[in-house]
Formats: sequence, C-alpha cells, structure tokens
Amino acid sequence: MNGKVKVGIVGLGFMGSTHFGIHRQLGKSEITAVADVNEQKRSGDWSSIVGNIGGGDNSKPVNLEGIKTYSDAMDLIADPDVEMVDICVPTYLHEKYVLAALEAGKHVLCEKPVGRTFKEAKRITEAAEKSSSFFSTGLCVRYWPEYRHAFELYRSGKLGKMISATFKRVSPSIDGNAWENWFMKSDLSGGALLDLHLHDTDLVRYFFGRPEAVTSFGMKGFRSDNGIDHVFTRYDFGDDSLVVAEGGWESAKTTPFEMSFQIVCEKGTVRLSESGYKIMWEDGLIEEPKPGSGQLPTGWHVEIDYFLSSILEGKKPDKYLTTEEIRDSMAIIEAEERSIAENRRVTVAY
Ligand SMILES: NC(=O)c1ccc[n+]([C@@H]2O[C@H](COP(=O)([O-])OP(=O)(O)OC[C@H]3O[C@@H](n4cnc5c(N)ncnc54)[C@H](O)[C@@H]3O)[C@@H](O)[C@H]2O)c1
Repeated sequence: MNGKVKVGIVGLGFMGSTHFGIHRQLGKSEITAVADVNEQKRSGDWSSIVGNIGGGDNSKPVNLEGIKTYSDAMDLIADPDVEMVDICVPTYLHEKYVLAALEAGKHVLCEKPVGRTFKEAKRITEAAEKSSSFFSTGLCVRYWPEYRHAFELYRSGKLGKMISATFKRVSPSIDGNAWENWFMKSDLSGGALLDLHLHDTDLVRYFFGRPEAVTSFGMKGFRSDNGIDHVFTRYDFGDDSLVVAEGGWESAKTTPFEMSFQIVCEKGTVRLSESGYKIMWEDGLIEEPKPGSGQLPTGWHVEIDYFLSSILEGKKPDKYLTTEEIRDSMAIIEAEERSIAENRRVTVAY
C-alpha cells in the first residue's frame, strides 16, 4: 500500500479523541470518517471529554470538515473510504464492531480490553487469526518507552535472573467522567480489575511468560456498582520468584495518576517511579536512560505508529503483541476474578 492509511474512528471519547490527535501528529493516516452516538461529539464539540492520564486539550471545537460523520458505527465500517477501523467505544461493544469490521475486510485496532470477557477475547482473536486483515489491541503499556526499555534490557539477559517484580497502577476516581458513566457499571467495563489492572497483568505475561496460578485480593463496590475497584495479585511461576501487581481507581479525583514498577534481578534493579526511570546495577553504577522522546513520546504514539506502519509495509503487526498473548492476559484476569471470589489460589486456564 502506498500513501496514507484511510482511518475511521469509532467512539469519540477520551481514547477516540486521543487517537484522533495522534493520527494527525503522525501523518501516516488520513481520518476519513468518525462515528459516535453523541451528536455533540459528531459536531466537533469535545469539551465534555474527561480522562485520567494524558490525552489532548479538547476545550476548543474540532474542525471535522472533510470527514464523514456517522451515528451508526456499522455505516462507518461499510464505508469503502475506510481501510482501518480504530475502535474506541466502551469495552462491552468491542466484540460487535471488531467482528463486523474484520468481516468487512478492514484492518482493526481496538482499544483494550479486547473484550469484556475471556470468551469474547477468544472469539475476537480467533476471528482475527482467520482473517487476512491486520488486528491488534491497545495494550499500550507494552509500547510505553520506559516499559519497553526495561523489557529489552531484561530480555537481553544483562540483568540476570529475576528475583522479584512489582507493578503498580493507581488512578484517581473516574466516576462520572465517561459516556453514561459506563466504567462504573462493572457488567460493561469489568471494573478496575479488567479495565485498569489488565495493563499490569499483561506486563507480567509479557516480561515473564505464562504464570501457572494467581492469588488475588480485591476491594469491591466503593466507586463502581459491584466491581473490583482495587486488586493485589501474586503471580505464581512455580519457582521462588515474587511477582505482584496492584491496581485501583478508588482514590479521590485530585489524586495524581501513578504507574510504576520495580524489577529486581541478580545483577541490577530497574525502577520507574515518581523519581524517574533508573537502573541501579549491583556494582554501584546508576543509569537514567530517557527512552521517550521526539515524535513518539507515549506508548499510544508508538502503538498507533507501529500499526499504521504495519499496514503501509504489509507486515503482520505482531512484534509487540500476539493474539495468543492477548488471550492469555484475559485468561489471567479471569483467574484473578475467581481467586478474589473464592478466596483461594487459582490455576490459570489458558
Ligand atoms: N489504552 C488506554 O490507555 C485506555 C485509556 C482509557 C480507556 N481505554 C479504553 O478505551 C475504550 C473507550 O474508553 P473511553 O475512556 O474513551 O470512554 P468514553 O466514555 O470517554 O468514550 C466512549 C465514546 O463512545 C461513544 N459511544 C458509545 N456507544 C457508542 C456506539 N454504539 N457507537 C459509537 N459510539 C459510541 C460515546 O458517545 C463516547 O463518545 C474502552 O474500552 C476503555 O477501556 C483505554
């Protein structure tokens, strides 16, 4: 394929507006269509959008001249002027639009979580595997510069054996931020366990492979209806390592978003925290690499840039993430949910 990828964005909320801005910055795509059920959003008034981390300035009206606007995403999917469908609607709607877009022969980038349940994730990824179109999902932390740097360093073997690893993701409350407050309806979003903590579950899978079992503790229903608002999980690899992750979204709205990790290995410790990204080697050397810079400052940029480049170059987009890994992370989340419900260690059913 030559030139630019013709993109249709479905859902103009926090993520749709973020993707919109990134497509325009990258210059590898042309946004030919957008779809949203909300008329105000379709008119270019995005001032009601609120997110919890990053995102763009939506206070000024967006000029959508030359871009087709649809109230029904199925019309965007059927539009021959759309080659790639970028799906940014609430999670419970992902399966419907991903399957329709693949069926229509479109390339699909769907926000994470790929589906609401492991079953949905299986149906979606299996359809993607059978399709000749390209597919990926927005597990953007895999692409986030510091996480990517730590992953490559760890996988190079220079750090030696992993001893312990902790991952943390704590968001201010997003109660009331989104379309019809869908995040707080756990049937629709999966609560903080699926929506937020999935990133770190997926990182555990990414860095260290498949855990055998999980033991999780959760707190329910403080912000959301009856979903898990905060979770702690230990991932069991059948060895003596200690791997844990924590995620929650119940803190006050003014609490800063925190995403951090520490990986302790025989030869050094890698940490991302409020004091920056650092590698502390056992011999005393401290390094402070600055991996995120230039045109691709965030994982969202790297993810979208990579997917567009894959289409333009005709290469399957599986360097950072495979459909098997997408399924695995959803299987681990389901095991975590069961572990909380049954108050016991649960073997992951991949
Ligand atoms: N990767 C990340 O860092 C990240 C961050 C936040 C959200 N997300 C994910 O992105 C997705 C969207 O979340 P959000 O925060 O943008 O939500 P949001 O509520 O801000 O936006 C959702 C948008 O979808 C629209 N919409 C609802 N139903 C629709 C339909 N049937 N057809 C077309 N448009 C429809 C709404 O009007 C709204 O504009 C979710 O799956 C969420 O988990 C990912």
